[in-house]
Amino acid sequence: MAVRPIMKMGEPVLFQKARPVERFDTPELHALLADMKDSMIAANGAGIAAPQIGVSLQVVIFEVRNNPRYPQAEPVPETVLINPVLEPLGDEMEEGWEGCLSVPGMRGLVPRHAKLRYRGFDQYGKRFERVVDGFHARVVQHECDHLMGVLYPMRIRDLHDFGYTEVLFPELAGKDEDD
Ligand code: NI
Repeated sequence: MAVRPIMKMGEPVLFQKARPVERFDTPELHALLADMKDSMIAANGAGIAAPQIGVSLQVVIFEVRNNPRYPQAEPVPETVLINPVLEPLGDEMEEGWEGCLSVPGMRGLVPRHAKLRYRGFDQYGKRFERVVDGFHARVVQHECDHLMGVLYPMRIRDLHDFGYTEVLFPELAGKDEDD
């Protein structure tokens, strides 16, 4: 398939609510997912949402395994998540550093629910659900925010905790610049 250009913050599509997928296991959906995966891998992303390549549909993918942009993160299984619904479990929030392919070269400290259940569909229309915490929970919340037109800088509590990767995390400098 193809590496597609990734939309950067300021593009209207990133601030729109995405539409649900109505038909599964179609050539169009498989092609979209292949392009999302190629684009995510090319940019070393931990995940990507369809609006980031300009398609306003409720489709996200994510996977974390030896990712140079997130060297400390625990692994997250390769997942296709369509029409997701998130349900926080408990009141606990955790702050953690995030980046985004649509906000290249920057990191911010973002509060997220520590534990949640998510449900949705895979590309074949098979329904599934998981209970997750840690970085997995963070990635799901970040990617599903994209489907509601929310980018992580909009959730930072104190903008002192937002800055350039090369300043905040010099050891990661260069890893964020190729998108
Ligand atoms: Ni993002």
